[in-house]
Amino acid sequence: MLQDLRFLSPEQCALHHGHAFPEAPWSAQTFQELFCLQTVFGECLFLDSEFQGLYCLQATEEACDILTFFIAKPFQSRGIGGILLKQMIAKTRTLAIKKIFLEVSESNLPAQKLYQKAGFLPIGIRKKYYRQKDNTEKDALTFCLFI
Ligand SMILES: CC(C)(COP(=O)(O)OP(=O)(O)OC[C@H]1O[C@@H](n2cnc3c(N)ncnc32)[C@H](O)[C@@H]1OP(=O)(O)O)[C@@H](O)C(=O)NCCC(=O)NCCS
Repeated sequence: MLQDLRFLSPEQCALHHGHAFPEAPWSAQTFQELFCLQTVFGECLFLDSEFQGLYCLQATEEACDILTFFIAKPFQSRGIGGILLKQMIAKTRTLAIKKIFLEVSESNLPAQKLYQKAGFLPIGIRKKYYRQKDNTEKDALTFCLFI
């Protein structure tokens, strides 16, 4: 079952985000600030009341950026990412969005596979975009889906 992202509190979002991205967790304040923006929207997925994942987008006219997208750890690698991504794309269609942009770490192969399978095309590289906890840097690959 899909719910509007703001169904969750900023604290709940931050808790889930931290489990999915232990290297770079977002704070409740970050979610609080995003929730105040009318251009930011998203949905969260539940199965039997259990949180499974969420996406959060920011729209700018006919395009939008994926701010975050993740599946809760216990549910990863079961095809749920593909399901949530399809729902996200369907939602953007209803909003007349024409392009979806995202960036993903060069080392995040599951996410790259997921996005490419959904039709996202690689459009560039942002050098040393991510800094890891051990201070090493990773490039970001940028992708776009034309819908
Ligand atoms: C990336 C993520 C969203 C993928 O969702 P998921 O539900 O785990 O992935 P799916 O089961 O739908 O699989 C997507 C593809 O990745 C592959 N995959 C899944 N887990 C994998 C793993 N651990 N290693 C390599 N490939 C993997 C799958 O085989 C599948 O490809 P296929 O359809 O060609 O077989 C999820 O793992 C996640 O939330 N990770 C942590 C946060 C994150 O990285 N978010 C994306 C940031 S851009």
